[in-house]
Amino acid sequence: MLNNKTILITGGTGSFGKCFTKYVLTHYEPKKIIIYSRDEFKQFLMQNEFKEYKDKLRFFIGDVRDVERLKRALNGVDYIIHAAALKQVPACEYNPNEAIKTNIHGAMNVIEAALDCGVSKVVALSTDKAVNPVNLYGGTKLVSDKLFIAANAYAGESDLNFSIVRYGNVAGSRGSVIPFFQNIIDNGGKELPITDYRMTRFWISLTQGVELVIKALAEAKGGETFISKIPSFKITDLAQAMLPGCQMPEVGIREGEKLHEIMVTTEDSMTTYEYDKHFIVYPQMVFSTKRMPQPTGKKVPEGFSYSSGNNTEWLTVEQIQELLKKLD
Ligand SMILES: NC(=O)c1ccc[n+]([C@@H]2O[C@H](COP(=O)([O-])OP(=O)(O)OC[C@H]3O[C@@H](n4cnc5c(N)ncnc54)[C@H](OP(=O)(O)O)[C@@H]3O)[C@@H](O)[C@H]2O)c1
Repeated sequence: MLNNKTILITGGTGSFGKCFTKYVLTHYEPKKIIIYSRDEFKQFLMQNEFKEYKDKLRFFIGDVRDVERLKRALNGVDYIIHAAALKQVPACEYNPNEAIKTNIHGAMNVIEAALDCGVSKVVALSTDKAVNPVNLYGGTKLVSDKLFIAANAYAGESDLNFSIVRYGNVAGSRGSVIPFFQNIIDNGGKELPITDYRMTRFWISLTQGVELVIKALAEAKGGETFISKIPSFKITDLAQAMLPGCQMPEVGIREGEKLHEIMVTTEDSMTTYEYDKHFIVYPQMVFSTKRMPQPTGKKVPEGFSYSSGNNTEWLTVEQIQELLKKLD
């Protein structure tokens, strides 16, 4: 499905973009992958890291805020993966206009450019923070999600479709709890602070995120939100896995932080279907008679929700230790 296709990744030099690029180059035979981002140095580093694939890669300096540049970059592109975002919660809180320009105006530009340039599929990355958002980052991603879903109406009866992949904090990603605890341990700390003993999170690896995006590219008809079924863990168990027997002072929940990551709300449950390894939240509108999503999974019961707190699959301390060994 990706063989002989040209794929553009906005934010291609980021954690997701690099993992996606590597995965596609090692599992498929794409015609070309175009990396679209602003910082020339990150592109230079990525060019070096991916030297052996240089015939397949193109690097475009560009901002998602610049629709004309996006249109230029989309010449001959089949699929877009939209990963570019401002995503640090405090930075978005402190620079709200910038978060709106990148995450909302950027989404509008990607949609407009895709509609004008003959692209056939767009998958945009979302986050659990877009679900019942409590901070501006989540708020901008919620608007972005809505824009991509509604964009299917503009695509009309054409073959272009827009879909969404949603996941939570990637295990070990910058700014997340694992590097935070590791830093304390590396500096000889003997206790790991827990914001709230009830706190839980999902465990997802970048590769699982990439695989879900590829599934969305293959299966989406337009307007679906794809969500992985993944295990949860207690933050207290993570602390015990990383520093067995440590003290865990409770320091209080931080502003804008949730006790549990929510992926599907009870409101979404009306149009959510369960599959073996994922859920799909279907759009509430019909955008095109030609590209109607046809759920084949099992409809979730009314009132269902999917959060790291009410998950049925939980990691033990020992299982967390095994997974930690596999992280970089
Ligand atoms: N990391 C996680 O745990 C996580 C969890 C859930 C969802 N997500 C979502 O997944 C996506 C990718 O995240 P990530 O972890 O790969 O982020 P990342 O490592 O911070 O990378 C962000 C990428 O976006 C580019 N970018 C930022 N602003 C841009 C702009 N205005 N125009 C063009 N490119 C821009 C950056 O490059 P330049 O700075 O050079 O432009 C970089 O390539 C985001 O949409 C994020 O919301 C991430």
